[in-house]
Amino acid sequence: MTIPLLDLEAQLAQYREAALQAITRVVDSQHFIMGPEVKAFEAELAAYLELPAAVGVSSGTDALLACLMALEVGPGDEIVTSPFSFFATAGVAARLHARPVFADIDPATFNLTEAGVRAAIGKRTKAVIPVHLFGQMCDLGSFYDEPDRPVIVEDAAQAIGARLRGKGTGHFGEYTCTSFFPAKNLGAFGDAGGVACQDPARADRVGIIRLHGSKPKYLHHVVGGNFRLDAIQAAVLRVKLPLLDGWAAGRRANAARYDALLAEAGLVERGLVIPPAVQPDSLHVYNQYVVRAQRRDELMGHLGARGIGHAVYYPRPLHLQPCFADLGYGPGDFPHAERACAEVLALPVYPELPIDGQRTVVEALRTFYGI
Ligand SMILES: Cc1ncc(COP(=O)(O)O)c(C=O)c1O
Repeated sequence: MTIPLLDLEAQLAQYREAALQAITRVVDSQHFIMGPEVKAFEAELAAYLELPAAVGVSSGTDALLACLMALEVGPGDEIVTSPFSFFATAGVAARLHARPVFADIDPATFNLTEAGVRAAIGKRTKAVIPVHLFGQMCDLGSFYDEPDRPVIVEDAAQAIGARLRGKGTGHFGEYTCTSFFPAKNLGAFGDAGGVACQDPARADRVGIIRLHGSKPKYLHHVVGGNFRLDAIQAAVLRVKLPLLDGWAAGRRANAARYDALLAEAGLVERGLVIPPAVQPDSLHVYNQYVVRAQRRDELMGHLGARGIGHAVYYPRPLHLQPCFADLGYGPGDFPHAERACAEVLALPVYPELPIDGQRTVVEALRTFYGI
């Protein structure tokens, strides 16, 4: 039995016809850039997020970049963020010649901590990018409500639909950025992303930046880029959005089953495999189910030989990436992030994963550790 890390084909039947019809609609209209599909998706995304305004963009990376451009981030500015994230989180700051400033993560949730963020903030801090990693929202406590804090751009690339204390992404910071990369919980048929804001004026500015900074057309008060969401992607996302919460519920059920199976197998009590922690009052959407595993690298060989999909998100922390060498960080600066990179392992958690598949995964873990 081969168990992939993610099986997109398994859910295709649920929306295949509707998606093809939606694509046909766009093809027949020959309206590929902006237009009614993008507008309708933006309204539906905003409604889903319970926010007044959303902007479709070309990727999660461009969502983050457009927000920082809207904030006029540039040389001399600092962006406080997590060293344990996908590269784009810090890459967008560096692309604008700002300095990524890292703070260590909470070893339980893998997310930034309130104390860490507060300590990293300085006079030059232009924005903070908390990452809602693996589908769980980053809890920065009372920092979120502080009136004179720096602007917050939530990196919710992996966390659409997640909640913290009853509120969704974008209700804590000024911007929330989502990725619709195909492997995300809401995946497009290619690259796509979104930004949403509590303040429609902020969303409006991101929308202008996505169009080379022009409004009206050919009048450029600011420099932007081509960060547009394709109409075909918008049409597909409109079909999939109503299915998103059901898929997230399936992921949560699978995560709960893993928690139970890992404990039953005696792996947790022996400290061999540590399941992901869910913080209080948090609705996790499990874009990834990430455990800590002893002898992780050896274990990967064992799982691979049995056809069990797995992945390491992320093998190297951002402060130790070669391209950031000039920031002056070194090994040992963020021990929790570094340790996570050495121990984490994502297991298959997609909603359609059958119970037997989960049993097979846990059985493979048990035989590896010889218990
Ligand atoms: C945490 C995080 N931030 C940003 C991104 C960038 O999104 P995209 O791949 O759509 O550019 C991703 C997705 O890979 C991500 O996981």
